[in-house]
Amino acid sequence: MMKKNDIVEVEIVDLSHEGLGVAKVDGLVFFVENALPGEMISMRVLKVNKKIGYGKVEERLTSSPERNEAIDVAYLRSGIADLGHLKYEAQLAFKTKQVKDSLYKIAGIKDMEVPLTLGMDQPFAYRNKAQVPVRRVHGQLETGFFRKNSHDLMPIEDFYIQHPEIDQVIVAVRDLLRRFDLKPYDEKEKSGLIRNIIVRRGHYTGEIMVVFVTTRPKIFRIEQVIELLVAQFPQISSIMQNINDRDTNVIFGPDFRLLYGKEYICDQMLGTTFEISAPSFYQVNTEMAEKLYQTAIEFADVKSDDIVVDAYSGIGTIGLSFAKHVKAVYGVEVVPQAVENSQRNAALNGITNAHYVCDSAEKAMANWVKEGIKANVIVVDPPRKGLTESFIKASSQMNPDKIVYVSCNVATLARDLTLYQELGYQLSNIQPVDLFPQTHHVECVGLLVKERSDGE
Ligand SMILES: C[S@@+](CC[C@H](N)C(=O)[O-])C[C@H]1O[C@@H](n2cnc3c(N)ncnc32)[C@H](O)[C@@H]1O
Repeated sequence: MMKKNDIVEVEIVDLSHEGLGVAKVDGLVFFVENALPGEMISMRVLKVNKKIGYGKVEERLTSSPERNEAIDVAYLRSGIADLGHLKYEAQLAFKTKQVKDSLYKIAGIKDMEVPLTLGMDQPFAYRNKAQVPVRRVHGQLETGFFRKNSHDLMPIEDFYIQHPEIDQVIVAVRDLLRRFDLKPYDEKEKSGLIRNIIVRRGHYTGEIMVVFVTTRPKIFRIEQVIELLVAQFPQISSIMQNINDRDTNVIFGPDFRLLYGKEYICDQMLGTTFEISAPSFYQVNTEMAEKLYQTAIEFADVKSDDIVVDAYSGIGTIGLSFAKHVKAVYGVEVVPQAVENSQRNAALNGITNAHYVCDSAEKAMANWVKEGIKANVIVVDPPRKGLTESFIKASSQMNPDKIVYVSCNVATLARDLTLYQELGYQLSNIQPVDLFPQTHHVECVGLLVKERSDGE
């Protein structure tokens, strides 16, 4: 029987959905960091239970031709870019396979053609947003990232997958916080002031928002910090403060305050202008999100008298891209600031046929059914946990011809498909789009169509 600290020679036979190498020894499945299929390794057992175990590469005996040796991604791999050790073409193939496998294993769909994941020409420096913890390391205030599954801060200046200007703003903020002796948050002692820095940058506009997440309202000498920061980066058009005094991993507390400029930044997607405020969701990879939405639009293939529901609408990015081509759009989103953004965004773009409400998607869907609103097309874009049974039932009661499902978690997508299948909707098309290069995250858009019997 294998036990902790045993060392065995194993072949890696697969990659888990989280990008860990998979090895099989003595009827046990082991998961190993930084190990690729086809590689022989000498593995140290870290942990083992009845069926599965975790191992560590003691020595890599052979290297996969798909290993990315070009850059030292070892440290990034452990927190920011967990698939960075795999060449990009192979990352895309891995994501396509994830979709295929989940459709088969979870939803029993085996004859679906899954096209290759749409990828980026330059799959680096793509993120338009950074969320960076601020902590004390060896007596000094540092910004960086938490090593995977931990709260150990690794100081870092080049985040590799973020836009370089975002990295520069973070370093400048860090230096100003040090200069004005502002205290970083200490999780153990529950003391200190600055917890996180969030930086967002409009992909097309270059406008930047900085958010300081603090434990208390008062930030000593913040006026001087702001003056110096804005002098160095005139493209900063919004500085916000968020107060979070809770003992939680959730980044934002409920209280936002304006420190400088306006409460939002602007960006464009598919030619539509959007205002984005701090708590609102906005896809982190604008270039690929446009490809994702474009695919959703093609799948929906709307006509001018169609009615479209945009569920989980955020700031309205998807629904407002449809609005000019259809009769009406009904959107729902639970974050009030995002709903305000979507209403403003409709007006900004001269759109008068889009109606956004602040509610849970399941309640709004049930209300729309009661009110007799009949959408031909329902677009859903839920968070990782996917849809609820009540939402799926209400949406199928509306009896749309098509449901376009935008998903950032193929496991919950496949689970939800099983219920939609029972309700008469079949998956007819699917396309993965790589929104998160160098990471294991998979995004895709699926088209479900209603099987109609004659006369329905
Ligand atoms: C993946 S984002 C998509 C947003 C938008 N469609 C986009 O592409 O930018 C999911 C959104 O669902 C919202 N949300 C989460 N749970 C919800 C619920 N139960 N009802 C309505 N909206 C919800 C989140 O606040 C978030 O804005």
